[in-house]
Amino acid sequence: MSDKKYYITTPIYYPSGKWHLGHCYTTVCCDAIARYKRMKGFDVFFLTGTDEHGQKIEKKAEAKGCTPKQFVDELVADIQKLWGLLDISYNKFIRTTDEYHEKAVQKIFNKLYEKGDIYKGKYSGKYCTPCESFWTESQLVNGKCPDCGRDVVDAEEESYFFRLSKYQDKIKELLTTTDFLQPQSRVNEMVNNFLKDGLNDLAVSRTSFKWGVPVTFDNKHIVYVWVDALSNYITALGYADENPELFNKFWPADLHMVGKEIVRFHTIIWPALLMALDVPLPKKVYGHGWLLFGGDKMSKSKGNVVDPYILSARYGVDAIRYYLLREIPFGSDGNYTNEEFITRINQDLVNDMGNLAKRTLAMSKQYFDGKVTKPTEFTEIDDTFIANINALDKKVEDWMDKINVTKALECIFEVIGSANKYIDLNKPWELNKNGEKARLNAVIYNLLEAIRVTSTALLPFLTSSPKKIFASLGVCVPDTLDSLVYGQVNAYATTEIEVLFPRIDMKKELAELEKLAEELAKEEEKNHMG
Ligand code: ME8
Ligand code: MG
Repeated sequence: MSDKKYYITTPIYYPSGKWHLGHCYTTVCCDAIARYKRMKGFDVFFLTGTDEHGQKIEKKAEAKGCTPKQFVDELVADIQKLWGLLDISYNKFIRTTDEYHEKAVQKIFNKLYEKGDIYKGKYSGKYCTPCESFWTESQLVNGKCPDCGRDVVDAEEESYFFRLSKYQDKIKELLTTTDFLQPQSRVNEMVNNFLKDGLNDLAVSRTSFKWGVPVTFDNKHIVYVWVDALSNYITALGYADENPELFNKFWPADLHMVGKEIVRFHTIIWPALLMALDVPLPKKVYGHGWLLFGGDKMSKSKGNVVDPYILSARYGVDAIRYYLLREIPFGSDGNYTNEEFITRINQDLVNDMGNLAKRTLAMSKQYFDGKVTKPTEFTEIDDTFIANINALDKKVEDWMDKINVTKALECIFEVIGSANKYIDLNKPWELNKNGEKARLNAVIYNLLEAIRVTSTALLPFLTSSPKKIFASLGVCVPDTLDSLVYGQVNAYATTEIEVLFPRIDMKKELAELEKLAEELAKEEEKNHMG
């Protein structure tokens, strides 16, 4: 059997408010990686889902006058619609309210208890309700929650504890001597902020509210939402089942992709839980940066969300996917502005990608009625150009192996850029005027090949425009990346192409988007009042 398997996960998101571009960011990145791996011949399992328990959701439901389950059902339907809209190719969507998951979490909790890695004790500390996190006095920033900056409250409760301290040396070794956590820059953060003074045992049950998975042997306790949530990565594969086929096949995960604020849970608590369970560790956790909005983390709890439905309705799914994958240097934070969004689309998708296809296919039609054949003679300019095309596969592969989707896309657009320059250098219209038909055929063929290869390379990233290009090239949409080589097509029969990305009128759109944002804000306010 092929060992080319790949298991990739997004965080499971809290259904606690409107979905925004920040959630789209992680999910679209994972989707691009999943699609890339599939096209490279991997058997991929791509998991996403929702993290539905916890006090925050219980309170929101209460405020809305419905049950927690009713509350989350609506938001889960929304996010599934959103992933449909954005062409997210997940293999499974897990909800932590799924019965099989709850049962498995109980088994996990019991196993750790029986083993002695979970014991009963008492907890007192500072609690941040929106974040579901207990903090020690020294972790607070100006007396507030270090994650979200909100007020914390004193809290004490009887609790079960997980012997996290027992695993501190192993965790430290994992983080400092392997490349388990990427990018490397996050390792110091973890070591300095959490590991330096040693790890405390972790309170892993709650009694102060009800909305969670009950502890089977002590039912006034529910399982701490992070233990419930992290377990999803194995319960989704049927861990704890009689004969867990998916688990045996896909675990350990190849990549947990998460935002940097939850790296701590994924690189300290999660590996410790797995060690305690005697389950192999995931191969990698990648902590990406934040999409900022006016300098702040785009966040449900702050209300500064950009609406992905509006953006995709106005500019198309490929525009959003492209912006998210290309604009923010992978691993770093990046600020969202409508202006930069529009600039990105106009420059790269309209000017470079769209124009190249439009111009080339128009010339192919005009000069050869779309019939263009593989040339036999090449100039020096051709050799360089073709070498660029042939180098693309390896370049993209290297960046994708480093989990840098931004750089991978950049390389593809470099070839697109070089193709536009190739037109200017070779001036096909002059070749036509001078009757140099053979040379003209070669130039157009080389351009068609550049378009075919770059469109193929773009398939993991953009899900609709490359397909339109293939239709006009008269070539089947490839389902592997094996054809990223110049000269694969002997004879083209092309047709002209519609405008792929209409140019966005910056001034007009900025005004329009601002108006829409105001309307949304007003609506939100109305909902909060009601
Ligand atoms: O933390 N920029 O759920 P959550 C980039 N349920 N990514 C962002 C983002 C932004 N502005 N905003 C959100 C939870 N994200 C837990 C996870 S996993 C076992 C449990 C993305 O709804 C990013 O991936 O708060 C971040 O880590 C995640 O959404 C947090 O989603
Ligand atoms: Mg959050």
